[in-house]
Amino acid sequence: MVGAAMEGVGTVTEDEEASGRYIVVKALEDGVVIMGLTRGKDTRSHHSERLDAGEVLVAQFTELTAAIKIRGKAEIMTDVGKVSAGV
Ligand code: TRP
Repeated sequence: MVGAAMEGVGTVTEDEEASGRYIVVKALEDGVVIMGLTRGKDTRSHHSERLDAGEVLVAQFTELTAAIKIRGKAEIMTDVGKVSAGV
């Protein structure tokens, strides 16, 4: 990223703070489900996204979201590396 593209990195427009880092999930089959799990003592699924084969989700962890759960065949890329789910 260069110039204007760098502006706003690490900031969010919502009240909620997001981390500056991203995770990328690429669906390798239709109907892959990504669930956002809440931060704190109570762990519940607060949002889910369904991806079809080839679709990619780019996301951040936030004050609300501490973990994600992925159902189905997908490729997941994070700072700690790349992993395959559903295989
Ligand atoms: N509510 C849990 C927490 O804030 C969410 C969570 C974080 C979690 N990491 C996890 C749930 C790993 C299951 C597995 O700690």
